[in-house]
Amino acid sequence: MAIKSIVKMGDPLLLQVAAPIQADEFGSAALQDLVNDLIDTMRELNGAGIAAPQIGVSKQLTIFGGFKSPRYPEAEEIPFTVLCNPVLTPIGDELVDDWEGCLSVPGMRGVVPRHLNLRYQGFDQFGQLIDRTVTGFHARVAQHECDHLFGMLYPMRIKDLRQFGFVDTLMPHLPAED
Ligand code: NI
Repeated sequence: MAIKSIVKMGDPLLLQVAAPIQADEFGSAALQDLVNDLIDTMRELNGAGIAAPQIGVSKQLTIFGGFKSPRYPEAEEIPFTVLCNPVLTPIGDELVDDWEGCLSVPGMRGVVPRHLNLRYQGFDQFGQLIDRTVTGFHARVAQHECDHLFGMLYPMRIKDLRQFGFVDTLMPHLPAED
C-alpha cells in the first residue's frame, strides 16, 4: 500500500484505452495491491474517485465512493466501489450539467454534461459481478471514472469553455487542493 504520484493531463497514457483485467488477475494479490494503492492515493488527495491509469497503470480498474470528499461537500454519498472492465449503458437520454474536477487536472473545475440515469456493469477485484442502476452524482462519478479507462478526460466533454476555470477563483469557499 502506498500513495502514488498522479499522472496529469498531457501524458499520453491518459489518452489510451486501458487493458481489461484478465480472468486470472481477479482475486490475485497483485490486483488487491493495486486497489490498495488507489485507495491510499484517493484518500490522501480527497478524490471522489480514481482510476488505475491516473497512477500510471493502464488497466480497466477504477474505485470511487466510500467517504465524503471535502472537495465535493454538497455531494451525496456513494458506496465504496471497485469496478473492473465496466460497461456503461445510459438509461433514457436526459443529460445534466454540473461541475467536475479531476486529480489529473489539478486546481481546475468545469461544467460537464452527463447522463442523469445510468446502468453500469462490471466486476469487483474478486471477479464478483456488479450490476447497478444509479442516478445523479453516483451516475456522474461512474461516468467520469470510467472515462479514464477509455482515454477520455472531462475537459474533452466540456461544451462551453467559459465554464472551465481555476477552483480557487470559481469556488473560493472550497479547501485549497494543490
Ligand atoms: Ni478524473
